[in-house]
Amino acid sequence: MPYIFAIKDKELKEGELGFASPGGISVVLIKKEGKLYALRNKCSHMWCAFRGAHLDGYILKCPCHDWRYDIRTGEFIDAPEIKLDTYPVKRQGEDILIEINDQPKQRTGIKEA
Ligand code: FES
Repeated sequence: MPYIFAIKDKELKEGELGFASPGGISVVLIKKEGKLYALRNKCSHMWCAFRGAHLDGYILKCPCHDWRYDIRTGEFIDAPEIKLDTYPVKRQGEDILIEINDQPKQRTGIKEA
């Protein structure tokens, strides 16, 4: 799959959450220490979106019931076998692009055996 536009680099502030829907998939984007992360904007618990979520270091806390995820891996801190989908992300000029696959590996948030 090709990379598609998600957000302008200048619109994504260091340590803050950015939101976009490239390819119709709602994602949360984070720039942390210059690196970029893209995760599905849908909590694995009860599907809340992350708008209003708190970011503490590399830990994203869901605003609904405080489930915490490592943005580097998408892993739920209390049970790493539960994951948010993560997407490859890169800069191209002034744009941030992500790669959306038709079938994300962890669409349900549960790792397959
Ligand atoms: S929906 Fe995210 S913790 Fe419940």
